Amino acid sequence: MKNPLHVVVLAAGRGKRMHSDIAKVLHPIGGRAMLEHVLGTVLELASNQSPSWVLEAVHVVRGFSGDAVRAAIEASGLESALSKQGVELFWHEQTEQRGTGHALMQAQGALPSSGHSLILFGDVPLIEAKSLIEMIERLFLDGHASEDRSVILSAMIDEPKGYGRIMRDPESGDVTGIVEERDATEAQRKIAEINSGMMLLPNRHLGRWLSQLSDNNAQSEYYLTDVIAMAHQQGHPVIGHPISDALQIQGVNTLTQLIALERAFQRRLADRLLAQGVKIFDPNRFDVRGSLECDSDVYIDINVIFQGRVRLGRGVRVGAHCVLIDTEVGEGTEILPFTHCESALIGPRSRVGPYARLRPGTELGEENHVGNFVEFKAAKMGAYSKANHLAYVGDALVGSRVNIGAGTITCNYDGANKHQTVIEDDAFIGSDSQLVAPVRVGAGATLGAGTTLTKDAPAGELTVSRAKQLSIAGWKRPSKAIKKS
Ligand code: UD1
Ligand code: CA
Repeated sequence: MKNPLHVVVLAAGRGKRMHSDIAKVLHPIGGRAMLEHVLGTVLELASNQSPSWVLEAVHVVRGFSGDAVRAAIEASGLESALSKQGVELFWHEQTEQRGTGHALMQAQGALPSSGHSLILFGDVPLIEAKSLIEMIERLFLDGHASEDRSVILSAMIDEPKGYGRIMRDPESGDVTGIVEERDATEAQRKIAEINSGMMLLPNRHLGRWLSQLSDNNAQSEYYLTDVIAMAHQQGHPVIGHPISDALQIQGVNTLTQLIALERAFQRRLADRLLAQGVKIFDPNRFDVRGSLECDSDVYIDINVIFQGRVRLGRGVRVGAHCVLIDTEVGEGTEILPFTHCESALIGPRSRVGPYARLRPGTELGEENHVGNFVEFKAAKMGAYSKANHLAYVGDALVGSRVNIGAGTITCNYDGANKHQTVIEDDAFIGSDSQLVAPVRVGAGATLGAGTTLTKDAPAGELTVSRAKQLSIAGWKRPSKAIKKS
Protein backbone atom coordinates (compact mmCIF):
# COMPACT_ATOMS: atom_id res chain seq x y z
CA MET A 1 0.00 0.00 0.00
CA LYS A 2 1.22 3.48 -0.78
CA ASN A 3 2.07 5.72 2.14
CA PRO A 4 -0.51 8.53 2.22
CA LEU A 5 0.97 11.99 2.39
CA HIS A 6 -0.73 15.26 3.40
CA VAL A 7 1.07 18.55 2.92
CA VAL A 8 0.43 21.29 5.46
CA VAL A 9 1.65 24.78 4.57
CA LEU A 10 1.87 27.19 7.50
CA ALA A 11 1.02 30.65 6.23
CA ALA A 12 -0.83 32.44 9.01
CA GLY A 13 1.92 34.63 10.44
CA ARG A 14 1.84 38.37 10.04
CA GLY A 15 5.56 38.68 9.61
CA LYS A 16 6.01 41.51 12.11
CA ARG A 17 9.63 41.91 11.14
CA MET A 18 8.57 42.87 7.58
CA HIS A 19 6.90 46.08 8.89
CA SER A 20 4.16 45.70 6.28
CA ASP A 21 0.36 45.49 6.27
CA ILE A 22 0.51 42.80 3.60
CA ALA A 23 0.65 39.20 4.82
CA LYS A 24 4.25 38.03 4.67
CA VAL A 25 3.52 35.01 2.46
CA LEU A 26 2.07 37.33 -0.21
CA HIS A 27 5.29 39.28 -0.64
CA PRO A 28 6.66 38.31 -4.04
CA ILE A 29 9.86 36.69 -5.20
CA GLY A 30 10.29 36.89 -8.96
CA GLY A 31 6.84 38.45 -9.26
CA ARG A 32 5.00 35.57 -7.54
CA ALA A 33 3.86 35.49 -3.92
CA MET A 34 6.07 33.32 -1.73
CA LEU A 35 3.08 31.09 -0.98
CA GLU A 36 2.53 30.64 -4.73
CA HIS A 37 6.08 29.35 -5.05
CA VAL A 38 5.47 26.83 -2.27
CA LEU A 39 2.15 25.63 -3.72
CA GLY A 40 3.74 25.50 -7.20
CA THR A 41 6.29 23.09 -5.75
CA VAL A 42 3.47 21.06 -4.17
CA LEU A 43 1.85 20.90 -7.62
CA GLU A 44 5.09 19.45 -9.01
CA LEU A 45 5.09 16.95 -6.18
CA ALA A 46 1.51 16.03 -7.06
CA SER A 47 2.41 15.29 -10.66
CA ASN A 48 5.19 12.96 -9.51
CA GLN A 49 3.94 9.40 -9.49
CA SER A 50 5.77 7.32 -6.92
CA PRO A 51 5.25 3.62 -6.27
CA SER A 52 5.77 4.14 -2.53
CA TRP A 53 3.75 7.21 -1.59
CA VAL A 54 0.77 9.25 -2.75
CA LEU A 55 -0.02 12.90 -2.14
CA GLU A 56 -3.63 12.97 -0.92
CA ALA A 57 -4.32 16.59 -0.02
CA VAL A 58 -2.78 19.93 0.79
CA HIS A 59 -3.80 22.08 3.74
CA VAL A 60 -3.01 25.76 4.07
CA VAL A 61 -3.23 27.44 7.45
CA ARG A 62 -4.05 31.11 6.96
CA GLY A 63 -4.52 33.77 9.58
CA PHE A 64 -3.23 37.32 9.29
CA SER A 65 -4.94 38.89 6.26
CA GLY A 66 -6.29 35.41 5.52
CA ASP A 67 -8.93 36.49 2.99
CA ALA A 68 -6.29 38.21 0.86
CA VAL A 69 -4.11 35.12 1.08
CA ARG A 70 -6.92 32.86 -0.08
CA ALA A 71 -7.96 35.26 -2.84
CA ALA A 72 -4.40 35.47 -4.17
CA ILE A 73 -4.09 31.70 -4.37
CA GLU A 74 -7.50 31.33 -6.01
CA ALA A 75 -6.51 33.96 -8.59
CA SER A 76 -3.24 32.16 -9.32
CA GLY A 77 -5.08 29.10 -10.62
CA LEU A 78 -3.00 26.82 -8.40
CA GLU A 79 -5.99 25.52 -6.49
CA SER A 80 -7.68 24.23 -9.62
CA ALA A 81 -4.39 22.94 -11.04
CA LEU A 82 -3.91 20.88 -7.87
CA SER A 83 -7.45 19.60 -8.01
CA LYS A 84 -6.85 18.46 -11.61
CA GLN A 85 -4.05 16.31 -10.21
CA GLY A 86 -6.52 14.84 -7.73
CA VAL A 87 -5.13 16.84 -4.81
CA GLU A 88 -7.68 18.92 -2.98
CA LEU A 89 -6.68 22.10 -1.18
CA PHE A 90 -8.20 22.69 2.27
CA TRP A 91 -8.08 26.03 4.03
CA HIS A 92 -7.75 26.27 7.81
CA GLU A 93 -7.88 29.35 9.92
CA GLN A 94 -5.63 30.32 12.81
CA THR A 95 -7.30 33.39 14.28
CA GLU A 96 -4.52 34.14 16.76
CA GLN A 97 -0.92 33.54 15.78
CA ARG A 98 0.42 31.59 18.71
CA GLY A 99 3.26 29.75 17.04
CA THR A 100 4.00 27.12 14.41
CA GLY A 101 2.79 24.27 16.65
CA HIS A 102 -0.47 26.10 17.27
CA ALA A 103 -0.80 26.69 13.51
CA LEU A 104 -0.49 22.97 12.79
CA MET A 105 -3.12 22.23 15.48
CA GLN A 106 -5.67 24.08 13.29
CA ALA A 107 -5.22 21.54 10.48
CA GLN A 108 -4.57 18.44 12.58
CA GLY A 109 -8.25 17.43 12.83
CA ALA A 110 -8.38 17.12 9.04
CA LEU A 111 -5.37 14.79 8.83
CA PRO A 112 -5.74 11.01 8.65
CA SER A 113 -4.48 8.78 11.46
CA SER A 114 -1.91 7.01 9.33
CA GLY A 115 0.78 8.08 6.88
CA HIS A 116 2.78 11.28 7.21
CA SER A 117 2.32 15.02 7.14
CA LEU A 118 4.81 17.11 5.24
CA ILE A 119 5.09 20.52 6.88
CA LEU A 120 6.13 23.42 4.65
CA PHE A 121 6.41 27.12 5.47
CA GLY A 122 4.87 29.86 3.39
CA ASP A 123 7.94 32.00 4.04
CA VAL A 124 10.47 29.47 2.74
CA PRO A 125 9.67 29.84 -0.96
CA LEU A 126 12.48 28.31 -3.00
CA ILE A 127 12.28 24.69 -1.94
CA GLU A 128 12.26 22.39 -4.98
CA ALA A 129 10.15 19.27 -5.53
CA LYS A 130 13.25 17.17 -6.18
CA SER A 131 14.57 17.96 -2.69
CA LEU A 132 11.23 17.14 -1.08
CA ILE A 133 11.13 13.81 -2.90
CA GLU A 134 14.62 12.96 -1.61
CA MET A 135 13.41 13.85 1.86
CA ILE A 136 10.28 11.68 1.53
CA GLU A 137 12.40 8.74 0.38
CA ARG A 138 14.11 8.83 3.80
CA LEU A 139 10.87 7.59 5.35
CA PHE A 140 11.24 4.21 3.78
CA LEU A 141 13.02 1.21 5.19
CA ASP A 142 13.04 -1.97 3.10
CA GLY A 143 10.44 -0.45 0.80
CA HIS A 144 7.97 0.29 3.61
CA ALA A 145 7.27 3.60 5.23
CA SER A 146 8.10 3.49 8.88
CA GLU A 147 4.95 4.64 10.68
CA ASP A 148 6.96 6.08 13.58
CA ARG A 149 9.66 7.92 11.68
CA SER A 150 10.13 11.66 11.39
CA VAL A 151 12.40 13.43 8.92
CA ILE A 152 13.58 17.00 9.31
CA LEU A 153 15.17 18.93 6.47
CA SER A 154 18.29 20.61 7.80
CA ALA A 155 21.28 22.47 6.37
CA MET A 156 24.75 23.48 7.40
CA ILE A 157 25.01 27.22 6.90
CA ASP A 158 27.67 29.83 7.57
CA GLU A 159 25.30 32.30 9.18
CA PRO A 160 22.81 30.27 11.22
CA LYS A 161 21.53 33.39 13.00
CA GLY A 162 17.75 33.46 13.36
CA TYR A 163 17.20 29.75 12.67
CA GLY A 164 16.41 26.92 15.06
CA ARG A 165 19.46 24.71 15.66
CA ILE A 166 19.47 20.93 15.35
CA MET A 167 20.70 19.17 18.48
CA ARG A 168 22.31 15.78 18.04
CA ASP A 169 23.58 13.19 20.46
CA PRO A 170 27.39 13.62 20.40
CA GLU A 171 27.90 9.85 20.53
CA SER A 172 25.27 8.43 18.16
CA GLY A 173 24.66 11.53 16.05
CA ASP A 174 20.89 11.00 16.54
CA VAL A 175 18.69 14.10 16.40
CA THR A 176 17.55 14.83 19.95
CA GLY A 177 15.68 18.06 19.45
CA ILE A 178 15.54 21.56 17.98
CA VAL A 179 16.29 24.69 19.95
CA GLU A 180 15.09 28.10 18.81
CA GLU A 181 17.70 30.85 18.56
CA ARG A 182 16.01 32.90 21.28
CA ASP A 183 15.96 29.98 23.70
CA ALA A 184 19.45 28.74 22.86
CA THR A 185 22.52 28.90 25.05
CA GLU A 186 25.73 30.49 23.74
CA ALA A 187 27.08 27.02 22.98
CA GLN A 188 23.91 25.97 21.12
CA ARG A 189 24.01 29.13 19.00
CA LYS A 190 27.36 27.97 17.67
CA ILE A 191 25.72 24.91 16.07
CA ALA A 192 25.86 25.37 12.30
CA GLU A 193 23.18 22.80 11.45
CA ILE A 194 19.89 24.64 11.21
CA ASN A 195 16.23 23.67 10.99
CA SER A 196 14.66 24.58 7.63
CA GLY A 197 11.23 24.19 9.26
CA MET A 198 10.25 21.56 6.71
CA MET A 199 9.57 18.19 8.28
CA LEU A 200 7.74 14.92 7.82
CA LEU A 201 5.81 13.83 10.88
CA PRO A 202 3.99 10.53 11.49
CA ASN A 203 0.24 11.16 11.70
CA ARG A 204 -0.30 8.37 14.25
CA HIS A 205 1.70 10.36 16.86
CA LEU A 206 1.06 13.92 15.71
CA GLY A 207 -2.18 14.61 17.60
CA ARG A 208 -0.69 13.40 20.86
CA TRP A 209 2.54 15.36 20.38
CA LEU A 210 0.71 18.58 19.54
CA SER A 211 -1.50 18.25 22.62
CA GLN A 212 1.64 17.96 24.75
CA LEU A 213 3.20 21.24 23.49
CA SER A 214 3.59 24.11 25.92
CA ASP A 215 4.23 27.80 25.33
CA ASN A 216 6.74 28.03 28.12
CA ASN A 217 9.55 29.62 26.07
CA ALA A 218 11.12 32.96 25.12
CA GLN A 219 8.30 33.86 22.70
CA SER A 220 5.39 32.32 24.67
CA GLU A 221 4.48 30.38 21.54
CA TYR A 222 3.63 26.76 20.83
CA TYR A 223 6.72 25.72 18.89
CA LEU A 224 6.21 22.91 16.39
CA THR A 225 9.92 22.22 16.71
CA ASP A 226 9.35 20.87 20.23
CA VAL A 227 7.71 17.70 18.83
CA ILE A 228 11.16 16.54 17.72
CA ALA A 229 12.45 16.22 21.30
CA MET A 230 9.19 14.40 22.18
CA ALA A 231 9.70 11.92 19.35
CA HIS A 232 13.24 11.29 20.50
CA GLN A 233 12.26 10.90 24.16
CA GLN A 234 9.48 8.47 23.23
CA GLY A 235 11.97 6.35 21.31
CA HIS A 236 10.75 7.20 17.80
CA PRO A 237 13.47 7.76 15.21
CA VAL A 238 14.15 11.23 13.80
CA ILE A 239 16.23 11.52 10.66
CA GLY A 240 18.08 14.77 10.08
CA HIS A 241 18.22 15.06 6.30
CA PRO A 242 20.68 17.80 5.32
CA ILE A 243 20.38 19.63 2.03
CA SER A 244 23.48 21.18 0.44
CA ASP A 245 21.70 23.91 -1.51
CA ALA A 246 21.16 26.57 1.15
CA LEU A 247 19.04 28.79 -1.13
CA GLN A 248 16.20 26.27 -1.08
CA ILE A 249 15.76 26.49 2.67
CA GLN A 250 16.28 30.22 3.10
CA GLY A 251 13.43 31.71 5.13
CA VAL A 252 12.20 35.28 4.84
CA ASN A 253 11.57 37.22 8.04
CA THR A 254 12.72 40.71 7.02
CA LEU A 255 12.66 42.84 3.86
CA THR A 256 16.43 42.64 3.76
CA GLN A 257 16.17 38.84 3.55
CA LEU A 258 13.39 39.10 0.94
CA ILE A 259 15.50 41.32 -1.29
CA ALA A 260 18.59 39.17 -0.86
CA LEU A 261 16.56 36.09 -1.78
CA GLU A 262 15.06 37.90 -4.78
CA ARG A 263 18.56 38.61 -6.13
CA ALA A 264 19.70 35.04 -5.52
CA PHE A 265 16.55 33.73 -7.24
CA GLN A 266 17.13 35.98 -10.28
CA ARG A 267 20.77 34.96 -10.45
CA ARG A 268 19.81 31.29 -10.41
CA LEU A 269 17.26 31.86 -13.18
CA ALA A 270 19.80 33.80 -15.25
CA ASP A 271 22.39 31.05 -14.83
CA ARG A 272 19.86 28.43 -15.95
CA LEU A 273 18.97 30.45 -19.06
CA LEU A 274 22.67 31.03 -19.82
CA ALA A 275 23.21 27.28 -19.60
CA GLN A 276 20.42 26.88 -22.20
CA GLY A 277 22.15 29.31 -24.56
CA VAL A 278 20.41 32.60 -23.79
CA LYS A 279 23.05 35.32 -23.84
CA ILE A 280 22.34 37.45 -20.81
CA PHE A 281 24.89 40.21 -20.89
CA ASP A 282 25.04 40.65 -17.13
CA PRO A 283 23.21 38.03 -15.04
CA ASN A 284 23.36 40.37 -12.05
CA ARG A 285 21.25 42.94 -13.87
CA PHE A 286 18.43 40.73 -15.06
CA ASP A 287 14.89 40.42 -13.71
CA VAL A 288 12.05 38.05 -14.48
CA ARG A 289 8.83 38.72 -12.60
CA GLY A 290 6.79 35.91 -14.08
CA SER A 291 7.93 33.56 -16.80
CA LEU A 292 10.34 34.01 -19.69
CA GLU A 293 10.57 31.58 -22.59
CA CYS A 294 13.40 31.96 -25.09
CA ASP A 295 14.24 30.29 -28.38
CA SER A 296 17.85 29.90 -29.47
CA ASP A 297 20.32 32.76 -29.89
CA VAL A 298 18.43 35.30 -27.84
CA TYR A 299 20.48 38.22 -26.58
CA ILE A 300 19.44 40.25 -23.54
CA ASP A 301 21.30 43.41 -22.58
CA ILE A 302 21.47 44.85 -19.06
CA ASN A 303 18.59 45.95 -16.82
CA VAL A 304 15.72 44.46 -18.76
CA ILE A 305 12.59 43.60 -16.77
CA PHE A 306 10.34 40.76 -17.95
CA GLN A 307 6.92 40.64 -16.32
CA GLY A 308 4.01 38.21 -16.65
CA ARG A 309 4.43 35.80 -19.57
CA VAL A 310 7.05 36.82 -22.07
CA ARG A 311 8.17 34.83 -25.12
CA LEU A 312 11.18 35.71 -27.23
CA GLY A 313 11.61 34.02 -30.60
CA ARG A 314 14.81 32.83 -32.21
CA GLY A 315 17.56 35.42 -32.49
CA VAL A 316 15.61 38.18 -30.71
CA ARG A 317 17.75 40.96 -29.24
CA VAL A 318 16.52 43.06 -26.35
CA GLY A 319 18.42 46.28 -25.68
CA ALA A 320 19.24 47.79 -22.32
CA HIS A 321 16.58 49.13 -19.92
CA CYS A 322 13.51 47.69 -21.62
CA VAL A 323 10.36 46.56 -19.81
CA LEU A 324 8.43 43.72 -21.49
CA ILE A 325 5.12 42.72 -19.92
CA ASP A 326 3.00 39.81 -21.26
CA THR A 327 4.60 40.27 -24.64
CA GLU A 328 5.57 37.96 -27.48
CA VAL A 329 8.40 38.87 -29.83
CA GLY A 330 8.82 37.17 -33.21
CA GLU A 331 12.09 35.76 -34.46
CA GLY A 332 14.89 38.04 -35.52
CA THR A 333 13.28 41.15 -34.05
CA GLU A 334 15.32 43.74 -32.25
CA ILE A 335 13.95 45.78 -29.35
CA LEU A 336 16.15 48.81 -28.85
CA PRO A 337 16.92 50.40 -25.46
CA PHE A 338 14.31 52.05 -23.20
CA THR A 339 11.32 50.44 -24.87
CA HIS A 340 8.20 49.59 -22.87
CA CYS A 341 5.77 46.93 -24.14
CA GLU A 342 2.66 45.60 -22.47
CA SER A 343 0.33 42.89 -23.83
CA ALA A 344 1.86 43.31 -27.26
CA LEU A 345 2.45 40.91 -30.10
CA ILE A 346 5.51 41.87 -32.13
CA GLY A 347 6.11 40.21 -35.47
CA PRO A 348 9.35 38.76 -36.83
CA ARG A 349 12.33 40.72 -38.20
CA SER A 350 11.03 44.02 -36.85
CA ARG A 351 12.77 46.89 -35.11
CA VAL A 352 11.14 48.60 -32.13
CA GLY A 353 12.55 51.54 -30.23
CA PRO A 354 14.62 53.09 -28.83
CA TYR A 355 12.06 54.76 -26.57
CA ALA A 356 8.99 53.14 -28.08
CA ARG A 357 5.87 52.36 -26.09
CA LEU A 358 3.58 49.53 -27.13
CA ARG A 359 0.44 49.46 -25.01
CA PRO A 360 -2.09 46.62 -24.66
CA GLY A 361 -3.61 45.38 -27.88
CA THR A 362 -0.67 46.26 -30.10
CA GLU A 363 -0.04 43.77 -32.90
CA LEU A 364 2.87 44.44 -35.18
CA GLY A 365 3.39 42.43 -38.37
CA GLU A 366 6.63 41.27 -39.93
CA GLU A 367 9.43 43.72 -40.70
CA ASN A 368 7.84 46.67 -38.97
CA HIS A 369 9.83 49.66 -37.83
CA VAL A 370 8.56 51.50 -34.79
CA GLY A 371 10.95 54.19 -33.72
CA ASN A 372 11.58 56.66 -30.96
CA PHE A 373 8.73 58.25 -29.02
CA VAL A 374 6.12 56.29 -30.90
CA GLU A 375 3.14 55.00 -28.93
CA PHE A 376 0.80 52.26 -30.12
CA LYS A 377 -2.42 51.22 -28.35
CA ALA A 378 -5.03 48.71 -29.52
CA ALA A 379 -3.57 49.00 -33.00
CA LYS A 380 -2.62 46.44 -35.62
CA MET A 381 -0.06 47.08 -38.30
CA GLY A 382 0.62 44.93 -41.38
CA ALA A 383 3.92 43.78 -42.87
CA TYR A 384 6.70 46.22 -43.88
CA SER A 385 5.01 49.25 -42.33
CA LYS A 386 6.85 51.98 -40.47
CA ALA A 387 6.23 54.63 -37.85
CA ASN A 388 9.71 55.83 -37.19
CA HIS A 389 9.39 58.97 -35.10
CA LEU A 390 7.09 60.71 -32.62
CA ALA A 391 3.64 59.32 -33.34
CA TYR A 392 0.49 58.13 -31.56
CA VAL A 393 -1.36 55.26 -33.19
CA GLY A 394 -4.38 54.26 -31.09
CA ASP A 395 -7.48 52.20 -31.98
CA ALA A 396 -6.16 51.79 -35.48
CA LEU A 397 -5.96 49.24 -38.24
CA VAL A 398 -2.89 49.91 -40.36
CA GLY A 399 -2.23 47.94 -43.54
CA SER A 400 0.98 46.73 -45.14
CA ARG A 401 3.78 48.92 -46.55
CA VAL A 402 2.34 52.00 -44.86
CA ASN A 403 4.57 54.87 -43.88
CA ILE A 404 3.45 56.93 -40.90
CA GLY A 405 5.36 60.20 -40.84
CA ALA A 406 6.85 61.93 -37.81
CA GLY A 407 4.34 63.65 -35.56
CA THR A 408 1.29 61.74 -36.82
CA ILE A 409 -1.55 61.45 -34.32
CA THR A 410 -4.68 59.35 -34.50
CA CYS A 411 -7.23 61.50 -32.67
CA ASN A 412 -9.15 58.49 -31.34
CA TYR A 413 -10.94 60.04 -28.37
CA ASP A 414 -13.67 62.66 -28.49
CA GLY A 415 -13.84 63.04 -24.73
CA ALA A 416 -16.49 60.34 -24.35
CA ASN A 417 -15.90 57.59 -26.90
CA LYS A 418 -13.01 55.96 -28.73
CA HIS A 419 -13.13 55.76 -32.52
CA GLN A 420 -11.24 53.73 -35.10
CA THR A 421 -8.79 54.88 -37.73
CA VAL A 422 -8.22 52.67 -40.75
CA ILE A 423 -5.14 53.17 -42.90
CA GLU A 424 -5.14 50.86 -45.90
CA ASP A 425 -2.15 49.22 -47.63
CA ASP A 426 0.55 51.40 -49.24
CA ALA A 427 -0.76 54.65 -47.75
CA PHE A 428 1.68 57.43 -46.97
CA ILE A 429 0.88 59.70 -44.03
CA GLY A 430 2.80 62.97 -44.25
CA SER A 431 4.45 64.33 -41.14
CA ASP A 432 2.45 66.13 -38.48
CA SER A 433 -0.92 64.86 -39.66
CA GLN A 434 -3.91 64.41 -37.38
CA LEU A 435 -6.37 61.70 -38.29
CA VAL A 436 -9.64 62.56 -36.57
CA ALA A 437 -11.37 59.23 -36.04
CA PRO A 438 -13.53 57.61 -37.23
CA VAL A 439 -11.74 58.06 -40.50
CA ARG A 440 -10.27 55.95 -43.30
CA VAL A 441 -7.26 56.46 -45.53
CA GLY A 442 -7.69 54.48 -48.75
CA ALA A 443 -5.12 52.16 -50.26
CA GLY A 444 -2.16 53.98 -51.78
CA ALA A 445 -3.45 57.38 -50.61
CA THR A 446 -1.03 60.12 -49.66
CA LEU A 447 -1.67 62.72 -46.97
CA GLY A 448 0.29 65.91 -47.33
CA ALA A 449 2.29 66.99 -44.32
CA GLY A 450 0.26 68.83 -41.71
CA THR A 451 -3.09 67.44 -42.83
CA THR A 452 -5.96 67.39 -40.35
CA LEU A 453 -8.04 64.59 -41.78
CA THR A 454 -11.72 64.75 -40.82
CA LYS A 455 -13.16 62.94 -43.84
CA ASP A 456 -12.02 59.74 -45.54
CA ALA A 457 -9.04 60.13 -47.88
CA PRO A 458 -9.72 58.46 -51.25
CA ALA A 459 -7.46 55.63 -52.42
CA GLY A 460 -4.53 56.55 -54.63
CA GLU A 461 -5.00 60.33 -54.30
CA LEU A 462 -3.19 63.15 -52.53
CA THR A 463 -5.20 64.73 -49.75
CA VAL A 464 -3.99 67.94 -48.12
CA SER A 465 -5.92 70.05 -45.66
CA ARG A 466 -3.42 72.74 -44.86
CA ALA A 467 -3.92 76.38 -46.00
CA LYS A 468 -2.17 77.39 -49.20
CA GLN A 469 1.26 78.93 -48.67
CA LEU A 470 1.62 82.54 -49.68
CA SER A 471 4.36 85.15 -49.37
CA ILE A 472 3.60 88.90 -49.12
CA ALA A 473 6.14 90.97 -50.93
CA GLY A 474 7.30 94.11 -49.13
CA TRP A 475 5.74 93.11 -45.77
CA LYS A 476 7.50 94.69 -42.78
CA ARG A 477 7.62 93.28 -39.28
CA PRO A 478 6.45 95.92 -36.72
CA SER A 479 9.50 97.26 -34.96
CA LYS A 480 10.18 98.45 -31.43
CA ALA A 481 12.34 101.41 -30.57
CA ILE A 482 15.88 100.02 -30.19
CA LYS A 483 17.11 100.27 -26.61
CA LYS A 484 20.43 101.97 -26.30
CA SER A 485 22.71 101.05 -23.47
C1 UD1 B 1 10.78 28.81 12.28
C2 UD1 B 1 11.25 27.63 13.14
C3 UD1 B 1 12.78 27.62 13.15
C4 UD1 B 1 13.29 27.51 11.72
C5 UD1 B 1 12.72 28.61 10.84
C6 UD1 B 1 13.05 28.31 9.41
C7 UD1 B 1 9.60 27.22 14.90
C8 UD1 B 1 9.23 27.43 16.31
N1 UD1 B 1 10.73 27.78 14.47
O1 UD1 B 1 11.22 30.01 12.91
O2 UD1 B 1 13.25 26.51 13.90
O3 UD1 B 1 14.71 27.56 11.72
O4 UD1 B 1 11.29 28.69 10.94
O5 UD1 B 1 12.66 29.35 8.55
O6 UD1 B 1 8.89 26.53 14.19
N2 UD1 B 1 3.21 30.66 11.24
C9 UD1 B 1 1.85 30.46 11.38
N3 UD1 B 1 1.27 30.72 12.58
C10 UD1 B 1 1.98 31.15 13.66
C11 UD1 B 1 3.35 31.34 13.51
C12 UD1 B 1 3.95 31.09 12.30
O7 UD1 B 1 1.17 30.08 10.44
O8 UD1 B 1 1.37 31.34 14.71
C13 UD1 B 1 3.83 30.42 9.94
C14 UD1 B 1 4.39 31.68 9.32
O9 UD1 B 1 3.45 32.29 8.46
C15 UD1 B 1 5.60 31.20 8.57
C16 UD1 B 1 6.04 29.94 9.31
O10 UD1 B 1 4.93 29.55 10.09
O11 UD1 B 1 5.29 30.86 7.24
C17 UD1 B 1 7.25 30.18 10.20
O12 UD1 B 1 6.96 31.17 11.17
P1 UD1 B 1 8.04 32.21 11.68
O13 UD1 B 1 7.42 33.00 12.76
O14 UD1 B 1 8.61 32.95 10.55
O15 UD1 B 1 9.13 31.23 12.32
P2 UD1 B 1 10.69 31.48 12.48
O16 UD1 B 1 10.93 32.39 13.61
O17 UD1 B 1 11.28 31.85 11.19
CA1 CA C 1 10.44 32.43 9.22
